[in-house]
Amino acid sequence: MKIQNDLLLRTIKGEEVERPPVWLMRQAGRILPQYRAVRASLSSFKELVARPDLAAEVTIQPVDELGVDAAIIFSDILVIPEAMGLDYEMVEKKGPVFPKVIQSASDIERLQTGEPAAEKLEYVYAAVKETIHRLDGRVPLIGFSGAPWTLLAYMIEGQGSKTFSKAKKFLYQEPQLAHQLLEKISTAIIAYLKEKTKAGVHVVQLFDSWAGLLSPLQYKEFSLPYINAICDAINEVPVTVFAKGAWFILKDLSQTNCHTIGLDWNTSVPYAREQLGPNKILQGNLDPCQLYAPVENIEEQTLSMIRSFGSGHIVNLGHGVYPDTPLDGVKAFVNTVKNYNY
Ligand code: CP3
Repeated sequence: MKIQNDLLLRTIKGEEVERPPVWLMRQAGRILPQYRAVRASLSSFKELVARPDLAAEVTIQPVDELGVDAAIIFSDILVIPEAMGLDYEMVEKKGPVFPKVIQSASDIERLQTGEPAAEKLEYVYAAVKETIHRLDGRVPLIGFSGAPWTLLAYMIEGQGSKTFSKAKKFLYQEPQLAHQLLEKISTAIIAYLKEKTKAGVHVVQLFDSWAGLLSPLQYKEFSLPYINAICDAINEVPVTVFAKGAWFILKDLSQTNCHTIGLDWNTSVPYAREQLGPNKILQGNLDPCQLYAPVENIEEQTLSMIRSFGSGHIVNLGHGVYPDTPLDGVKAFVNTVKNYNY
């Protein structure tokens, strides 16, 4: 199907474009009253993730309401641990909780991976197909996965944490087991992302949300090789890597087979350009809290960011949009980009 607004795809290909494309991480979510209404009609977050018709509906809401240049499929990174055999619950006001965590070699052995794990996620592929059908070519659809280290962090820690010190302890005390687990997670991710591309996503993004918790040495040992393997395996569509907090690894990321690198708001743009060279498209990186500021201020800072990136840029925030962000702030951000001309 021909994509009418293909600004994102042309930008990723390195073509000259009239303005940068814009979308927001976590755009399908609690910033939108329409989302909150759908969510309130259900008993849980996971029910929404598992219902292709409703997942498609909330995926498209930000395209209708904000006019962003891409949709991102409504789902969660934690569907992979679940498909591998480790259930999670999404606890209101707390976040994800895993009743059981990985503690031993036999726990790792019992996990499913590859196609058998990916087959459990039929509901995600159904949501992708339904979304593609309903979008009818208006904008491209982004698929995603958690990166192996970030998923391991939840599978060992069992819940969110400021330090993920249990997960880091596991890397220091049981490096071999950690590698076995990372290998299994990566194999599941590759099968999953391939199925997602078959279902129709146009781009995929890897979220290494807890990248910044690792030292450069640990990152090189426990995250980078697996990100590399995934980027090598996914040739169907362009891949974006968002390694939050991992400014120290940008030079190594420039060697991976990904097309786009997402930057968080702590990373300076000239530094990233210098580390990454001309071959990568950059995505990011306004501070999500900037959207709490007065509208004129948001416009000014968005313009200043666009200018600092120059061409080869996809506008986004430096992390997911916070649920209590005023909608007017979000709109000011998106509209400033849409009215821009290189
Ligand atoms: O619009 C989109 O970006 C698509 C949907 C999306 C969600 N989660 C929906 C969601 C995406 C891309 C994610 C990825 C995700 N999930 C990440 C990586 C991105 C990041 O922010 O670093 C992580 C770490 C998770 C795990 C997760 N899911 C947590 C920690 C939480 C609770 C946090 C909170 O704010 O409550 C979730 C729940 C979640 N995932 C919500 C949404 C819209 C909120 C739950 C709700 O609406 O009830």
